[in-house]
Amino acid sequence: MAEYNYDVLVIGAGPGGYVAAIRAAQLGLKVACAEGRATLGGTCLNVGCIPSKALLHGSELFEEAAHGTLAKFGVKTGPVELDLSVLQGEKSTAVKELTGGIEFLFKKNKVDWKKGYAKFKDAHTVEVAGETVTAKHIVIATGSSVTPLPTVAVDNDAGIIVDSTGALALDRVPNHLVVIGGGVIGLELGSVWRRLGAKVTVVEFLDQLLPGMDGEVRKEAAKIFKKQGMELKLSTKVTGAVVEGKTAKLTVEPAAGGEATTIEADCVLVAIGRRPNVDGLGLENIGLALNGRGQIETDHDFRTAVDGVWAIGDVIPGPMLAHKAEDEGIAVAENIAGLTGIVNHDVIPGVVYTTPEFAGVGLTEEAAKERGPIKVGKFPMLANSRAKTNREPDGFVKVIADANTDRVLGVWCIASVAGTMIAQAAQAMEFGAKSEDIAYTCHAHPTHSEAIKEAAMAVLGKPIHM
Ligand code: FAD
Ligand code: NAI
Repeated sequence: MAEYNYDVLVIGAGPGGYVAAIRAAQLGLKVACAEGRATLGGTCLNVGCIPSKALLHGSELFEEAAHGTLAKFGVKTGPVELDLSVLQGEKSTAVKELTGGIEFLFKKNKVDWKKGYAKFKDAHTVEVAGETVTAKHIVIATGSSVTPLPTVAVDNDAGIIVDSTGALALDRVPNHLVVIGGGVIGLELGSVWRRLGAKVTVVEFLDQLLPGMDGEVRKEAAKIFKKQGMELKLSTKVTGAVVEGKTAKLTVEPAAGGEATTIEADCVLVAIGRRPNVDGLGLENIGLALNGRGQIETDHDFRTAVDGVWAIGDVIPGPMLAHKAEDEGIAVAENIAGLTGIVNHDVIPGVVYTTPEFAGVGLTEEAAKERGPIKVGKFPMLANSRAKTNREPDGFVKVIADANTDRVLGVWCIASVAGTMIAQAAQAMEFGAKSEDIAYTCHAHPTHSEAIKEAAMAVLGKPIHM
C-alpha cells in the first residue's frame, strides 16, 4: 500500500493552486486539491480579476456610448441607458464559465477536488471536511483576503460600506462613492462606478496614488483620474465611520494630523490592501512560523521551513498578482517532480486596467537610480500615430536602462493598451535585452507598441517622431 494517499495535495484552488495541481498532474503525479469555496478559481476568478474586468469592459462601453467617444467617430446612438442587472448578469456568466472551466480541467487531468477547508494535522496530513488526506508534498496556496480597516466596518449585504467583493456586486449605481485607498482596487472599481454615473472621491493616506509604481507614472495617474472627474483627497486618512439609514458619514483628517471633517456618501469602498490567508490552517501543528507581515517565507524553490511543505501565491512575499501566483504554481510543481522550476521575480509585470491602462515591469526610476547610473528614454502617446488616430492622447512610455551596459532595467507605460504593450517589455527583459535591442526591433505600424521602440530610441538619444 502506498505510504500516502497522494503525491501532492494543494491547499487552495486560486491561480496559484489550480495551476500547481494541473501541472503536477501533467507531470504524472497523483494530485488532490482542497478548496473550500463553492467554485474553483480562487479570488481571481470568483471575486477578483475576472468580475472586475467584466465590469470595467461593460462600463467602458457605456461611457463611450453615453459620453462621446462613439459620437466623435460619427456613431450616433440616441439616448443611452444602463441596465445594471444585465451588466451584472454578463459578469456572472463570465465568472461561471471560467470557474466551470477549471472544474473541467481538474477532471481532464484527474485532479481530485477535496471540497472543504484543509487544516494541517502534521506535515503530510490534513483534515478536509472530516476526511483525513495524506500526501508526500503539500503546497499551501491559500491566497489572501481584504485587509479590514478597524474603524470602518464592512457589511457587503447592506451595500453601504463594502469591500471589493461588495463593490463588484452592487445592484445600484451609487450617487456618491467614497473609495478608501488609492491603490489598484480603488482606482479600477472607482472607475467602474464613475463611468456608470457615480461621483467618486478617493481618500488616500499617502501623497500619491498607486504605491509601488514609478513616481512619474503615479503623478500622471493623479492628473488623469482628476481630469476624468474623480475627486482625490491625498495625504488624508479616514478615522471613523457611522451609517445612518442609507448614508455613511466618514470622519477624515490630514494624514499628518489636523482638523477633522466629515464626508457623506451612499457607498464606501474599503480597499486598503490584502493580507495572507493563514487562519485556521493549523500551521501551529507543523511548527511553521510567519514573517512580520503574516506571510509564509519560502526559498527560491518555494520550499517552506518544514520538510515536504511548499507555498506559493499571495500567501508568500511578492506582488499579489494572479500571473505571479500562476508562474509559481508551475514552478513548484516542476520542483516537486524533480525538474527545475524558476520564477524570475525581477520581471513580473503589473497592470492597472483603467482607461488609460497603467503598466510597468522591472525597476522604477527611483529604485534604478539607487542601484547605479541610468539612462532614461521617454516617448509621449500623443506622438504615437495610432494613439493619436484613436484620439487617445494620454500617457507615455518610459524605458530605463543601465547607463554602462544599456541593459533594460524597467519599462513603464500609460496607454489605452498598456497591459498588452508591457508583455513585449517583460519578454525583452527576460531575454536580457539592451534598449538598443528594442530600438532596432521592427515594430508593426501603426501600433501603440511603436511607442516602446521610440522610448528605447530616446534612451539612445534619437527618437524619430519627436
Ligand atoms: P487566491 O486566488 O486567493 O486563492 C486561494 C484559494 O484558497 C481561495 O479560493 C480560498 O477559498 C482557498 N483557501 C483558503 N484557505 C483554504 C483552506 N484552508 N483550505 C482550502 N482552501 C482554502 N491580479 C491580477 O494579476 N490581475 C488582476 O486584474 C487582478 N484583479 C483583482 C481584482 C480584485 C477585486 C482583487 C480582490 C484581486 C485582483 N487580483 C488581480 C489579485 C489576484 O486575484 C490574486 O493575486 C490571486 O488570486 C492570488 O492567487 P492565489 O492562488 O495565491 O490565491
Ligand atoms: P493596494 O496596496 O494596491 O492599495 C491600497 C492603498 O490604500 C494604498 O495606496 C495605501 O497607501 C492606501 N491605504 C492604506 N491604508 C489606508 C487608510 N487607512 N486610509 C487611506 N488609504 C489607505 O491594495 P488594494 O487596492 O486593496 O489591492 C490589493 C491587491 O490586489 C494589490 O496588491 C494588487 O496586487 C491586487 N490587485 C491587482 C489588480 C491588478 O493587477 N490589476 C487589480 C486589483 C487588485
